[in-house]
Amino acid sequence: MDPSVEQLRRRLESAGQRHVLQFWPELSEEERAAFLQELAQLDLQRLKEHCDGATRAAAAPPASLDRHIEPVPPEIIGGVKRSDSGCLSEWEREGLLQVSESRVGVLLLAGGQGTRLGVQYPKGMYDVGLPSGKTLYQIQAERIHKVQELAARKFGSACTVPWYIMTSEFTLAPTERFFQENNYFGLEPSNVVMFEQRMIPAVTFDGKVILQGKGKIAMAPDGNGGLYQALVDSRVLEDFGRRGVEYLHVYCVDNILVKMADPVFIGFCVSKGADCGAKVVVKADPAEPVGVVCRVRGVSQVVEYSEIGPESAGLRGPGGELVFSAGNICNHFFTRSFLQEVAAKFEVQLKQHVAIKKVPFVDSCGNQVKPSEPNGIKMEKFVFDVFPFSRNFVVFEVVREDEFSPLKSAAGAAADTPTTARNSLLTQHCRWAAAAGATLLDGRGNAFHPAASVSADPPQFEISPLVSYFGEDLQPLLNGRTLQTPFVLDGNRAKELQAAQSRV
Ligand code: UD1
Repeated sequence: MDPSVEQLRRRLESAGQRHVLQFWPELSEEERAAFLQELAQLDLQRLKEHCDGATRAAAAPPASLDRHIEPVPPEIIGGVKRSDSGCLSEWEREGLLQVSESRVGVLLLAGGQGTRLGVQYPKGMYDVGLPSGKTLYQIQAERIHKVQELAARKFGSACTVPWYIMTSEFTLAPTERFFQENNYFGLEPSNVVMFEQRMIPAVTFDGKVILQGKGKIAMAPDGNGGLYQALVDSRVLEDFGRRGVEYLHVYCVDNILVKMADPVFIGFCVSKGADCGAKVVVKADPAEPVGVVCRVRGVSQVVEYSEIGPESAGLRGPGGELVFSAGNICNHFFTRSFLQEVAAKFEVQLKQHVAIKKVPFVDSCGNQVKPSEPNGIKMEKFVFDVFPFSRNFVVFEVVREDEFSPLKSAAGAAADTPTTARNSLLTQHCRWAAAAGATLLDGRGNAFHPAASVSADPPQFEISPLVSYFGEDLQPLLNGRTLQTPFVLDGNRAKELQAAQSRV
């Protein structure tokens, strides 16, 4: 054996991972080179710690937090239905002001593997079947365009909302390619900053790194809380500083209704002097798979849906409302200085969460095995686990039908599917059209009257985010009109409608 490989073998052995090189003699030169490159990226010093920690954590009985949790106090919560319209407009103005001064960035967490959706490409590239055929990424890009335009119009200064996209080994290359092929959806490429989170090995229940192939370790992204390490690794914190970005809106990829750089949320957090904030919706039912923003032993944090007991989840107040109702929608606000402090001081303290998964592997005879039972431990950090380090944490409650419809599962599942995402967006756009004074005719020529809830069969009426960010500016185009659907109100259609209105 080559002396450097021999040295590697000894180091793996002292980490209790001798088996990693067991198929070395069978590998080709090329496979060896690729494997060595992969192993060079492993922190061998900490490998033993990682494997031992994973087995210990997986073996420990799940710590029940239920006795220690309480709802967040009302004084730190604002919200669309909790606050008066004067406050809401003031916050919106403040948020747009910050956007207009290029002090706001958006940061997308897009390193997940989208296992539940079951596609082999990044979730942001998914097309839920809208009349326009737009993907989640395109919708998000166009909302960035629009919020920049709204801020610039209001305050008269051209501005930029940079888009930071955290990817992983699985998602970086296809995401980059997709953006290039689509010309960055009209955004300036230098304002779209992609960076990569770390990957860590999956481990067996007896503390051995899992070999996915004879020359390949089973690696997984380190959870969306890998963000804080990745911000340092990729010097993204410095990029914030160079651009003068002071506030970050961090969000997850799959919510089709996400308000990019939401001025109301940003303005609320800035006005409250918060360093950290979370958007929530009222939980639909006790079993809804969303984390709960609450306090544990007096400290604000999120208890993830996989970690709350059914008793606490189902607890109801005197009016029948859920006591733990603040459902986390993975939309967070952070100041740059808070993120800097987290990276410098607290990242190492972030909790490691255990996920037990079925991880394909090669057995000791070299056979490829697809396990039918869970066989591996993946350790993950969660993005919201920094909340306890906040000095001034706030919560903003929004209306589900307007702001939350995640795409989690493939067609046929009970909730959060391509169909539910599409219907949420179309129903919202029908509501905006009705509020602007339009009558929409469905496929059978019947007038559609949108209700507050999401319709199971809304007309195919879609508004481009380039025309309206959140329902604004529609009245001059739509008031008094009867429109036959399908209808996509894009920039060209808007111009035609405008021209027709001015002829009237
Ligand atoms: C997440 C929240 C949950 C919330 C729900 C709302 C976390 C840990 N949980 O749950 O509290 O109620 O969204 O929809 O935030 N990701 C990475 N790197 C990773 C893993 C995930 O960037 O290593 C990204 C995903 O691409 C996605 C986001 O993080 O954009 C959320 O991940 P996902 O697995 O979808 O989280 P949920 O379990 O749905």
